[in-house]
Amino acid sequence: MWSSPAATTGSANMSSSTNGPLFSTTLISPLVKSALPEKYTMRPLQRSDYAAGVLDVLKVLTTVGDITEEAWTERYDWMAKRGDEYFVLVVCDGSGKCVGTGCVFVERKFIHNLGLVGHIEDIVVNKDQQGKKLGLRIIEALDYIAEKVGCYKTILDCSETNEGFYVKCGYKRVGLEMAHYY
Ligand code: ACO
Repeated sequence: MWSSPAATTGSANMSSSTNGPLFSTTLISPLVKSALPEKYTMRPLQRSDYAAGVLDVLKVLTTVGDITEEAWTERYDWMAKRGDEYFVLVVCDGSGKCVGTGCVFVERKFIHNLGLVGHIEDIVVNKDQQGKKLGLRIIEALDYIAEKVGCYKTILDCSETNEGFYVKCGYKRVGLEMAHYY
């Protein structure tokens, strides 16, 4: 199983004081990268992605709010310090602009022999970039990360309208989502 730099050195993610990646670039599947359209890249989130437009991409999915760069940096650094828990990646076009993003959050359990479960969250591709298999590549890349870090399964919630997309990505309907909003 993959071992994070944080786990082996005892330090938090190295990126917390630099513009390094949120997690190790070795966790980005080479196969997925090679399947992207020409000039497109996939990499871990980095601090400077505030300027690269990642929050604008997320606005295609839902309300984001008016987030200042300072607030972004504070949240980014908090995530980076969690070490191997938050894996947010981005897809960029040839100009370096973020056009897609997705996250797998790794939950550590007592059950299933201290099992790890991946939670896929906040998958989104800019409207003018949809239909190029970028969403599929994001899910494939997050599955690769989840497996590499030792998750025994990955789960997600989605609307009925997106079920077909996730089925194409190899997911199947299991159970029922419930929510309690505060
Ligand atoms: N229903 C059924 N099939 C779909 C759908 C859909 N809503 N969307 C895509 N597909 C199919 C495509 O036709 C393609 O099929 P093919 O292989 O037969 O050609 C396959 O799924 C892969 O499609 P992609 O091109 O990779 O999809 P895209 O890059 O457009 O990304 C996504 C799909 C992420 C759902 C995009 O439409 C999007 O950003 N939507 C708005 C935000 C959103 O709803 N995100 C999901 C939230 S759920 C969550 O985050 C856990």
